Amino acid sequence: MATTSAEPGDATVGETAPALLEVKDLTVSIGGARLLSEVSLTIAPGELVGLVGESGSGKTLTGLSLLGLLPPDASVRGSVRFDGVDMLTVDGERRRRLRGSEISMIFQEPRASLHPSRPVGKQMVDVIRAHGTVRVAEARRQAVEMLGMAGLPDPRRTMDAYTHELSGGMCQRVMIAMALVCRPRLLVADEPTTALDVTIQAQVISLLRRLARELDLAVLLITHNLGVISALCSRVVTMYCGQVVNDDDAERLLGAPQHPYASALVRASEVSLDRTGGQSGITGAPANPARPPSGCRFHPRCPYAQDRCREHMPALEPAPRGGRTRCLRVDELTLPGVAA
Ligand SMILES: Nc1ncnc2c1ncn2[C@@H]1O[C@H](COP(=O)(O)OP(=O)(O)OP(=O)(O)O)[C@@H](O)[C@H]1O
Ligand code: SF4
Ligand SMILES: [Mg+2]
Repeated sequence: MATTSAEPGDATVGETAPALLEVKDLTVSIGGARLLSEVSLTIAPGELVGLVGESGSGKTLTGLSLLGLLPPDASVRGSVRFDGVDMLTVDGERRRRLRGSEISMIFQEPRASLHPSRPVGKQMVDVIRAHGTVRVAEARRQAVEMLGMAGLPDPRRTMDAYTHELSGGMCQRVMIAMALVCRPRLLVADEPTTALDVTIQAQVISLLRRLARELDLAVLLITHNLGVISALCSRVVTMYCGQVVNDDDAERLLGAPQHPYASALVRASEVSLDRTGGQSGITGAPANPARPPSGCRFHPRCPYAQDRCREHMPALEPAPRGGRTRCLRVDELTLPGVAA
């Protein structure tokens, strides 16, 4: 059963801009295993925020929580407030209406969320009509317009295409068009470029950047790829073992990170953070969030760990140079990033 802890009107990003999304102390367990622990993050209207971390750190579960798409057996605590509405406690019908029209998601397995035996255009028309009372002709017009905005060269023809007729890059553009056709205010994009080759990745990133600007869209971009982050995001939330361990400006994260895991991640990104590459480049295996180590969850892999790190769990607190970080030694350490 979900519980709420935030009060209406207390949503803030940093100290100034009102939040579009405020996640507070989100804790998720599935099958008795606690997989997310007190995840907190905020996104302002139009803000582009990255969510990074190794495989299994809880990025997708966090994204799914924002849309109320966790498995039915998940038990959830904390709050996920979107424009003042708690997505965890709002009734099912209202949540379904918000999904697509206000918050939308591009899923990690894109082809799995496009129906293989229904033309792309019909699927888009279905989405539009599920959220409004427009006639089919108007829904088709809106779908064609959005496919055009997503850079499909012949949007009318794409309307009649089946997914198997589309290249990986075109399929991803269709997914983006489908996610944005109802003009949501927040897009959760889960690894939107991972399956694509480097040239197409760059095109998809510049498409997302342009659409975010044109549609005044906030984006939570989940990725392993720090290059993608630096091209798109102004702020980055780093997860480790089901917790947020760092939340900082993208520039500072890359150049002068304030958390040892964030530093290791950034340094490793110069080798490869891509899951297809297997290794993250960070020594040791990621901890299992269902059976976390004592104290700081990163201590078994942290080159800066001391005895107290094994005993005390650091809180996520304001960091000396801005942002928030979860490290007992944050005041003492100067950590390496990557050269600009
Ligand atoms: N439906 C589920 N039932 C049980 N465990 C799950 C479920 N979904 C995710 N998990 C577990 O929760 C943890 C976080 O998973 P999640 O998919 O959020 O990771 P991720 O950071 O998105 O990883 P990746 O980069 O590989 O996509 C993992 O340990 C995973 O095995
Ligand atoms: S608290 Fe200790 S173990 Fe954890 S990240 Fe900081 S220095 Fe490393
Ligand atoms: Mg994932």
